[in-house]
Formats: sequence, C-alpha cells, structure tokens
Amino acid sequence: MKILIIISAVLITHSNMALAENTVINKLLGDYQSQGASTGQALAGEQLWNQTFAGKPPFTKRSCASCHTRKLSNEGKHARTGKALKPMAPSVNPQSLTDVKKITKWFKRNCKWTLGRECTVQEKSDILSFINQQ
Ligand code: HEC
Repeated sequence: MKILIIISAVLITHSNMALAENTVINKLLGDYQSQGASTGQALAGEQLWNQTFAGKPPFTKRSCASCHTRKLSNEGKHARTGKALKPMAPSVNPQSLTDVKKITKWFKRNCKWTLGRECTVQEKSDILSFINQQ
C-alpha cells in the first residue's frame, strides 16, 4: 500500500511538471498559429538553428549555434562577451523555456542579430518545437 501511494505521488508530480513545461510552449505555439503559422516542425527548426547567415565583421558568420552551440544540452558561450549561457535543452535545464516574456524578448533580439531580421511565426514555431525535444 505504501509503495502504491509513493508511486502515484511520483506519477502525479511528473505529470504536473510536464504540464507546467508544456503550458508555456503550447501557449506560444497557439499564438503563432493564430497569426498564421502551421504546426511546428522540429526538423525545420533544427536546420534553421544550425544555418549560417552573413553578418557584419567581426561576426561574418552567424547562427543560433554561435552562442548556444549545436548541442543544446551543452552550456553555451556568448560569441561577443564570452559569457557562459545555460544549456537550452529542457531535459538538462528545467528553467529553459518556462517564461513567455523571456522567450519573446530573446527571440526578437537573437533573430535580429543572427538572421538580420525578426523570425517569422513559422520559424519560431519550428525552433520551439526543436528545442522542446532536446
Ligand atoms: C550573440 C549570442 C546569441 C545568439 C547568436 C543567439 N542567442 Fe539566444 N540567447 C542569448 C542569450 C545571452 C540569452 C539569455 C540567456 C539567459 O538569460 O539565460 C538567450 C536566450 C534565448 C532564448 C530564451 C531561452 C529561455 O529559456 O527562455 C531563446 C528562445 C533563444 N535564445 C533563441 C535563440 C535563437 C532561435 C537563436 C538563433 C536565431 C539564438 N537564440 C541566437 C544569446 C544568443
């Protein structure tokens, strides 16, 4: 009986955590869809993550991986300041992608720096779907 209670407690805690994580992502994906995006494609998100874009010197080649690295479970390193960045993968960093405002702010700033423009709602959906799987 005790074991059963412990097991159900663990199960409930876990499903709550999964729910808490997904609420933020689901909200954003829903917002993007209402603005015209279709379902997020993780594969397209991964390609965009690693794609290199031209930029002004000294950072003539830019990608999301320039700061966050290609492997999202690793710590990142800011290309300009050298500052360490927490891993983006939710599997190793439970704080990742848990705040709508933070995600929105950094999407805007980082897309502009990397692509030279803001990301489209489709690109943001794809990238969020990709990161969320890491
Ligand atoms: C020049 C360095 C740099 C580049 C390039 C960069 N980022 Fe970031 N990014 C940051 C920093 C710094 C933060 C804030 C980290 C923190 O405070 O934990 C961040 C945070 C984020 C966050 C918020 C994470 C969260 O947990 O809420 C997202 C999403 C993100 N970046 C996406 C991207 C995408 C997509 C690209 C490519 C288009 C990209 N970043 C390129 C530096 C960069």
